[in-house]
Amino acid sequence: MNNSRPTLLAPSILAGDHADMRASLRVIEEAGLEWVHLDIMDGHFVPNLTFGPQTVRALRQNSSLFFDVHLMLDNPHQFIAPFIDAGADQITIHLEPDYPIKETLQEIKKKNVRCGVVLNPDTPVETAEEFLPLCDIVLLMTVQPGFGGQAFREDVLPKIKTLSQWRGERGLDYRLQVDGGIDLLTAHHCTELGVDTLVAGTAFYKASDKAAFAKQIIA
Ligand code: DX5
Ligand code: ZN
Repeated sequence: MNNSRPTLLAPSILAGDHADMRASLRVIEEAGLEWVHLDIMDGHFVPNLTFGPQTVRALRQNSSLFFDVHLMLDNPHQFIAPFIDAGADQITIHLEPDYPIKETLQEIKKKNVRCGVVLNPDTPVETAEEFLPLCDIVLLMTVQPGFGGQAFREDVLPKIKTLSQWRGERGLDYRLQVDGGIDLLTAHHCTELGVDTLVAGTAFYKASDKAAFAKQIIA
C-alpha cells in the first residue's frame, strides 16, 4: 500500500543489554535510526516488570533519539507527568484498563508530547474508534504484551487493514504501529497493509549488521 509517511523502525530496548543501556541506545544511533521504543511494565497489567521514569531520564541525558514510551500499566494516567518530565517524546496508553482514557490523551497532548492508544491482540478495533481523532499514533500489539521474543499473531492483520482504511476514509492522521514478533517477514506483511511504524526488539538486537537490518526492514 502506498503511504505518505516514511516507514520508521523503533528498536525496543527491552531486548538490549539492561546492564549497559547506554550501549543499547548507541547501537540504535549507529544503525542510523531515529526512534527508540521504551517498554514500561508494572507487573499488574502485564506479568513482568521493566523500568520507570528515573531510567528514562538517565537515558535521555545520553541520547537525542525520539523516545517512544509504551506504557503497559493499569494506571497510566498517574504516570504521565513523570514520564514527560523524564523526556518522553511520545506516550502510548492501553485501552484495556479502566481509567479516563480521553482525559489522559488530552493531558499528554497539552504538554506537546505525541500520544496514542494501544490495543492488545484480542481487543476489538472498534474500541479505539472514539479516540482516533486525538491520536498521533495507534499501536497494535501483535503479541500479548509482557515479554519479548514471542511469535507474531497473524490474526491481528485484519485490524491493521481496518485502521489503515479508516485513516484514509476519515481523513485521520495517525501513524500505524505494530509491536511484537516483528522481523523482516512479518514486517512486510504489516507494511503491505498500511503500517508505517515498526517496533522490533529481538530481531533488531540479534541482527549482526543492524544498519543493514534497519534498511531492509523499512524497504
Ligand atoms: C512486548 C513489548 C515489545 C517487545 C517486542 O510486551 O511491548 O515492545 O519488546 O519484542 P520482540 O520484537 O522481541 O517481539
Ligand atoms: Zn512495546
